[in-house]
Amino acid sequence: MKKVLIFTLTFWLLIVGISFLWNMDVAREEQRHVTLQTAHTFLTQVILTREWNADHGGIYVPVTADMTPNPYLDDHLRDIQVSKDLQLTKVNPSFMTRQLSEIAAKRQGVQFHLTSLQPIRPQNSPSEWEKKALELFERGVKEVGETINNPPNTDFIYMVPLITEKSCLKCHSSQGYKEGDIRGGISVTLTNIHTLQLLPMTMGHIGIGSIGVIFIILFWIKLSSAYGIIQRQAVIDSLTNIDGNNTWADYPGFAVDEEAIYITNNMFTFVGANSGVRLWIVDKGTTSGFYSGGPISQSIYDPYNAGASGYELTTQPAHVFNSPTTLPTSVGTFLVGYSGLASGSTEAIQVVRVDNPLVSPTFTTNYVFIGDIDSGASMPDAPQNN
Ligand code: HEC
Repeated sequence: MKKVLIFTLTFWLLIVGISFLWNMDVAREEQRHVTLQTAHTFLTQVILTREWNADHGGIYVPVTADMTPNPYLDDHLRDIQVSKDLQLTKVNPSFMTRQLSEIAAKRQGVQFHLTSLQPIRPQNSPSEWEKKALELFERGVKEVGETINNPPNTDFIYMVPLITEKSCLKCHSSQGYKEGDIRGGISVTLTNIHTLQLLPMTMGHIGIGSIGVIFIILFWIKLSSAYGIIQRQAVIDSLTNIDGNNTWADYPGFAVDEEAIYITNNMFTFVGANSGVRLWIVDKGTTSGFYSGGPISQSIYDPYNAGASGYELTTQPAHVFNSPTTLPTSVGTFLVGYSGLASGSTEAIQVVRVDNPLVSPTFTTNYVFIGDIDSGASMPDAPQNN
């Protein structure tokens, strides 16, 4: 019974555990998908703006204190003096990206970075993480994203390659790039992203798990007490093995005295052979046993082969309402049988006295002669009062 409980509990907790892990996995995947999508959308915008710039071969903007010409841009038309008050300088896509990146970092907590394994501008060198990503791009990977723990924040860094297009060659062909080559990459770092809310899911599963455990234990308590009752009730199994054969009980007899319950049966094998008589003696247990709610204690006897010299007849035990003044206290019951037993022309009833029924019963056979009631032919009519 305990095994069943342990098995059921283990099984239940396993199901709850698997559900928890599965839900976690789904939620994590979902969250990663959303973050990835956000980063991807963001970079797409930046790349579009860069492409627009590249399509024009760079964009001219007025030179100011904050906007000085890009020393890395090798172009004889880089600076144009339009008038005394207006000097223009060409802003290439990379330069523009850098400036956008500075605005984004200030306003939105988003950082992006243009980089390459062979940077023209030394400050564009990749970080360790970016370097690994760039190497992966060279091997054909299309995007790389990773959640990075930066206590107390959780960041997400995402990077895509920048492919050399026709519009890029104007400025980058001198380095040996061809159309389709990976020129570098652009990474975006989303700081302090929304992380998985573990608490509700954990609490939910602990709640469901505990409710289940309580129900299983309650059910088990109920079941085991019912099982106990059944076990007590089924303590006498009428399926009895006699001389290697299973037998069943027929011709039941039942009696009580002050200390025991007596049950007699004729036993038969399942192919119908007679296997004799059996007597069950059940201790009433009035103080600590059966009658006072405790476990049942009983024994089975073969009375006609355990001392009684009598014939194995269909046997009925006798109720004994004992009075110590008329019977010795050792006397249990009397096993009574009649089956045409005769001595000459007188028939007899067989009576086997059972002494010390609870400890070690002894059996003593007696015959009570009852006259010539069984002539051997058909039974005489009972006397009629006409
Ligand atoms: C108008 C010229 C010009 C065009 C067009 C141009 N670039 Fe650049 N690019 C530069 C210069 C100059 C730098 C280096 C200085 C800097 O960072 O501004 C650079 C830097 C880069 C970098 C950063 C790494 C490094 O080498 O320092 C990448 C990546 C890059 N370009 C990719 C591209 C791609 C892809 C295109 C086409 C969509 C493109 N560029 C078009 C001029 C240009």
